[in-house]
Amino acid sequence: MVFIMSLFITFEGTEGSGKTTQIQRLARFLTDRGQEVVLTREPGGCTISDAIRAILLDNAHREMDENAELLLYAAARAQHVAQVLRPALAAGKTVLCDRFTDATLAYQGWGRKLPLERIRALNAMATGGLTPDITLLLDLPVEKGLKRALSRIASSSGPREDRFERERLEFHSEVQRGYRSLASDEPGRFRLIDADRSPEEVERQIEQCVLQSLESRPHAL
Ligand code: TMP
Repeated sequence: MVFIMSLFITFEGTEGSGKTTQIQRLARFLTDRGQEVVLTREPGGCTISDAIRAILLDNAHREMDENAELLLYAAARAQHVAQVLRPALAAGKTVLCDRFTDATLAYQGWGRKLPLERIRALNAMATGGLTPDITLLLDLPVEKGLKRALSRIASSSGPREDRFERERLEFHSEVQRGYRSLASDEPGRFRLIDADRSPEEVERQIEQCVLQSLESRPHAL
C-alpha cells in the first residue's frame, strides 16, 4: 500500500464542474490508503471565513464593489490559512481544498478584470506563500456546468448562494479562459481533468493524476 505524506491539493473549475462530488471521492480514496485527510473549501472552512462567505455569495448583495469583493476573499483566505490549512499541514495531514488562490485570479482577474498583479499581491499576503502541491482543474463547457449549477440551486432549500451563478455567460467564459491560462503557465502544479464525463470516469482520472504526481515526488511515497 502506498503511504502518502502531507500534501496540499486544490480543486478548481467553473460553476457546476463537479468539484464537490469529486473532492469527497478523493478524500475517501486517500483515507482508505491510510492518509489523514482534511476536507475544506474557500471561501469558508472556519467560522470567520464562513461568515464572510455568506456575505460574498448572497444574491441580495448585487451592489458589492469589486474591490470590496476582492478584499473579502483575501480576508476569508488569510483566516482559513492561519486557522485551518497551516495547522493541518504542519500536523502531517493531507489537505483537500475546494478552490484557493487560482479562483481569485480566474474570477476577480479574468472575470471582473481587476489587475492580476493586485490579486497576486493580496494572495501572497493572505497565504504567506503557501502554494498547493497539486491543483486539479475540472474543465467542461461553461454552458453545461452552469445548467447543472442552476438546477442544483433551484432544488436546494439552503441559503441562496448564487450571486456568481447569476453572472452572464461571458463572465463564466472569461473565468474559464483564465483557469486554462493559469494551468498552461504552471504545468508542474496543474492537472487538467476532463470533467465532461461520468462521475466515475472523472474520479479515475483524478486518482491516476494524484498517484502519478506522488510517484514523481519520491520523498512523498
Ligand atoms: P463554490 O460555488 O465553488 O463554493 O464557490 C463559491 C463562489 O465563489 C464561486 O462562484 C466562485 C467564487 N469565488 C471567487 O469569485 N473568488 C475566489 O477567490 C473564490 C475562492 C471563489
